[in-house]
Amino acid sequence: MGARTIWVLSGPNLNLLGTREPEIYGSATLDEIERSLVDEGARAGVEVRCFRSNEEGALVTRVQEARGTAAGLIVNFAAYSHTSIALVDALAAAQVPAIEVHLSNVHRREPFRHRMMTARACIGVIAGLGPIGYRLALQALIARIGAAPVEKSA
Ligand code: DQA
Repeated sequence: MGARTIWVLSGPNLNLLGTREPEIYGSATLDEIERSLVDEGARAGVEVRCFRSNEEGALVTRVQEARGTAAGLIVNFAAYSHTSIALVDALAAAQVPAIEVHLSNVHRREPFRHRMMTARACIGVIAGLGPIGYRLALQALIARIGAAPVEKSA
């Protein structure tokens, strides 16, 4: 784990993707989304690691662990995106560039989803594009990290 590691952090209920309100969140499972990110990262010489929890504290701990060990974070803290001061503080302390992704366009939904709490600690936000949003976030972080060093032949 190191300079070319990107963590994908997922919050509560995202384990239910695929069957959870598919008219809002689509039919892709979290496992499918994560596997495509791992594959795309590998092609760019980046290690993509994934973590999901229903618990705010577990997500805070994982953000803390990113400091000094990860080159970037892709975060979908789900409902905690709208409420968690603890996750804002953790992201600010981690000093790792984070991009927040939402599968749905939260701005077109209920007013309580319009308050974006954790987004203020992120360098960018992508909402409403489904799983493609994750891939765009990964591409943006890879562009920041730079190309993988080319192995020199002897
Ligand atoms: C979500 C949007 C949140 O409002 C919601 O609580 C989720 C999923 C999304 O990806 O669209 O659980 O983060």
